[in-house]
Amino acid sequence: MPALMPQLKIAVLGSGKGSNFRAILSAIMAGHLRVTPVLAASDVPEAGILTLADNLGIPTTTIHEPKYRTRLSDGVEFSLVKELQASGADLIVLAGYMRLVKEPLLEAFPRRIINIHPSLLPSFPGLEAWRQALSAGVKTTGCTVHFVDSGMDTGEVIAQSQVNILPGDTPETLHARIQEAEHQLYPEVLARFARREFP
Ligand code: GAR
Repeated sequence: MPALMPQLKIAVLGSGKGSNFRAILSAIMAGHLRVTPVLAASDVPEAGILTLADNLGIPTTTIHEPKYRTRLSDGVEFSLVKELQASGADLIVLAGYMRLVKEPLLEAFPRRIINIHPSLLPSFPGLEAWRQALSAGVKTTGCTVHFVDSGMDTGEVIAQSQVNILPGDTPETLHARIQEAEHQLYPEVLARFARREFP
């Protein structure tokens, strides 16, 4: 009886311009996605997701950690876990969050942290995956939504969307087309979580 199910609450973590969060918000506002964003968190004070959330009255938090660290320090990650738990989030949605996640967060939300990555994993994990695909000379790349584990883009794949590489593609044109695919895929996957397809 979907009508009686409480709406899934999501917390979104991001470090970049926030276009995936914007696509998620658009899907919610268009009535295509029944989830409630309860917190936006970023380790970059000027990140797009904080502005988007502020404009809609969604609570925000800034994570204070030096840029060069690939993981949060223990105390900072512990505080983040506390804030995520206090927000009531059921699902943690990484949308351009550029650090690795450690045990305290993984243990607090088992199989409840997902990420979007701009390649067809397991190909091209890590930074600027679209540039890696161009350099490798492959004909097809895409994007992947996956469960997060402690590795770099290594968790179980949930869904993928394919993007063809066209003659004359540059890193910028290819990344733009991959992002269009991401903006379709992430709301679709969140809708599956909202329907409780992943107990
Ligand atoms: C997205 O393309 C996402 O796939 C990528 O960062 C971008 C964030 O864009 N994430 C990773 O590479 C994670 N390994 P956005 O801030 O506009 O949503």
